[in-house]
Amino acid sequence: MPKVQLERILHTQGFGSRKECRALIRNGRVAISGEEIVDPFVEIDPLGLVFSFDGEPWIYQAQAYVMLNKPAGFECSHQPKHHASIYSLLPPPLNGRGVQSLGRLDEDTTGLLLFSDDGKFIHAISSGKRKVPKTYRVRAKHPVSDEQIQTLLAGVQLIDELSPIVAAGCERLDDSEFLLTVTEGKYHQVKRMVAGVGNRVESLCRVAVGGLQLPADLAPGEWRWLSEDDLAQLRT
Ligand code: URA
Repeated sequence: MPKVQLERILHTQGFGSRKECRALIRNGRVAISGEEIVDPFVEIDPLGLVFSFDGEPWIYQAQAYVMLNKPAGFECSHQPKHHASIYSLLPPPLNGRGVQSLGRLDEDTTGLLLFSDDGKFIHAISSGKRKVPKTYRVRAKHPVSDEQIQTLLAGVQLIDELSPIVAAGCERLDDSEFLLTVTEGKYHQVKRMVAGVGNRVESLCRVAVGGLQLPADLAPGEWRWLSEDDLAQLRT
């Protein structure tokens, strides 16, 4: 990869305007391999670059692909109305480079939420036409009957929808918990489907998108970069 000025590298990673990044570097806030770099115009190959900013390591990423374990009590909006924004859980450079969530989860829904600044990727994964499966662990208010599971798999007619919405998968975990897989991304879809079969969602956690599972070691509120392997899983 051709070498790029450090000032420009910081700018692409979301640390501010070119002028702001120049000042950050000149103020000694950036180091590479433990060595402070104060020349904003030094040329570096960004591929595989790990620099530190205020002592915190930062991995150069040409495009940002990120997962968050969304906690309850956060809104998927830049202008939240009643709760904090999920974007407040991401480090400032990710917001600085304009990452967006791939679809939305309700304020009280937890689990796997993806972000990117790659418009094509966002469209490919979140467009309803692609039918990417999304799996939710549902805790219901009442015990889940076999009939309710069969109806979810056969299709539930929701108000405002032309035809019944069919679950791509439904697997009981215990009396009142089950995994529900849907391929659409309609407003309050899971809550409305569960209500449609005569039950009620008590809690909802998204545990997978495509073949990508919510990692057990990603605590609520934590984020991490998606690896190449994660990206491949997502497409399966
Ligand atoms: N379905 C819902 O009802 N809520 C979510 O947050 C996601 C899917």
